[in-house]
Amino acid sequence: MKQFHVFVLLILISLTEALDYAKPGCKDTCGNVRIPYPFGIRRNCSLNEWYTLDCNFSTPYLSALNNMEVLNVNLEQQTITVNVSKISNCQNPVWNSSHILTANSGSGGNPFLFAKLHNIFMVEGCGNAFMISDNGSAVVTGCSATCHNNTVSDVNNCFGIGCCQTIIPYDLKSFSLDLTDMETQKGVCGFAYLVDKNSYVQGRSFSDQSTFVPISLLWTLADHDYDQLPGCSQSVRTRTVFDLGYNTSAESIRCECGATYEGNPYLEGGCKGG
Ligand SMILES: *[C@@H]1O[C@H](CO)[C@@H](O)[C@H](O)[C@H]1NC(C)=O
Ligand SMILES: *[C@@H]1O[C@H](CO)[C@@H](O)[C@H](O)[C@H]1NC(C)=O
Ligand SMILES: *[C@@H]1O[C@H](CO)[C@@H](O)[C@H](O)[C@H]1NC(C)=O
Ligand SMILES: *[C@@H]1O[C@H](CO)[C@@H](O)[C@H](O)[C@H]1NC(C)=O
Ligand SMILES: *[C@@H]1O[C@H](CO)[C@@H](O)[C@H](O)[C@H]1NC(C)=O
Ligand SMILES: *[C@@H]1O[C@H](CO)[C@@H](O)[C@H](O)[C@H]1NC(C)=O
Ligand SMILES: *[C@@H]1O[C@H](CO)[C@@H](O)[C@H](O)[C@H]1NC(C)=O
Repeated sequence: MKQFHVFVLLILISLTEALDYAKPGCKDTCGNVRIPYPFGIRRNCSLNEWYTLDCNFSTPYLSALNNMEVLNVNLEQQTITVNVSKISNCQNPVWNSSHILTANSGSGGNPFLFAKLHNIFMVEGCGNAFMISDNGSAVVTGCSATCHNNTVSDVNNCFGIGCCQTIIPYDLKSFSLDLTDMETQKGVCGFAYLVDKNSYVQGRSFSDQSTFVPISLLWTLADHDYDQLPGCSQSVRTRTVFDLGYNTSAESIRCECGATYEGNPYLEGGCKGG
């Protein structure tokens, strides 16, 4: 039985090694993080500047987005998980996400969106916190946490006492946070943030002690990106429309290896099996 397991493991290892996730001549991992094309380390390994990562001391950073640390890239969900600081009412009672999604380089529009499906909005502390749309004219979502005397925030019991959570109703290009209606009790600060749902449930890369949280961004591909992805024409292509609220939307092309194939559909010949 044990030998059988080892055998299966060897097959799995050899299958994994046969699949290429990066362009030829490019590294496909940085530390523990797999970096599949269209992302790539160094300029000529990625689709464009937006998808270019730096790998410094085995940690990947998105250089076009304020050098945010990348924790995971997901090809199927078309998401990238990044490590972002929680926002505190003591430091930034009014905060604007353009701090995160401000580009340092790159041509064309910023292809990243805050993913509605993959994140929840969480507030630790006492009082009300609001997420405000781009232009500051509408409340996107918000929640209220009540506290009594020495209530301690506990993200694992986040039902309205010292902590509250809610969904976000659309995908967002940017947003602001308004924490001016949160109290600071005995010098304890409140926090508001988006957090990746899976990380929150699993509680692995995320704990109340940390002031950093993993959040998920959608990476979108426009028609002119598609034209530069010859692998896609050999795979299954779908067009997704993302609701950005207020009668606005964004589109993205997604490529997938068909059923019984696996690998990276964005690379030429990247899908293997059959
Ligand atoms: C990237 O590729 C272009 C065109 O293939 C080439 O001209 C350029 O020298 C390459 N740059 C680097 C840094 O390899
Ligand atoms: C990673 O290294 C590159 C090259 O040395 C440097 O330009 C960049 O600022 C570094 N990024 C981070 C996040 O340290
Ligand atoms: C957030 O910052 C951007 C860019 O500086 C600005 O255009 C936008 O109006 C700001 N939003 C709010 C609600 O302050
Ligand atoms: C809450 O604090 C007040 C004033 O410090 C105190 O009188 C009261 O007994 C406390 N209530 C509870 C339930 O601890
Ligand atoms: C996120 O960044 C902080 C600060 O650099 C670091 O301490 C923490 O380990 C990072 N989290 C993960 C999951 O890498
Ligand atoms: C959205 O579009 C519909 C139909 O064009 C219009 O009636 C409605 O007022 C719009 N809503 C917003 C928030 O702009
Ligand atoms: C804010 O954006 C929404 C949707 O794009 C638009 O309906 C509204 O008129 C804008 N408000 C201002 C003050 O620009």
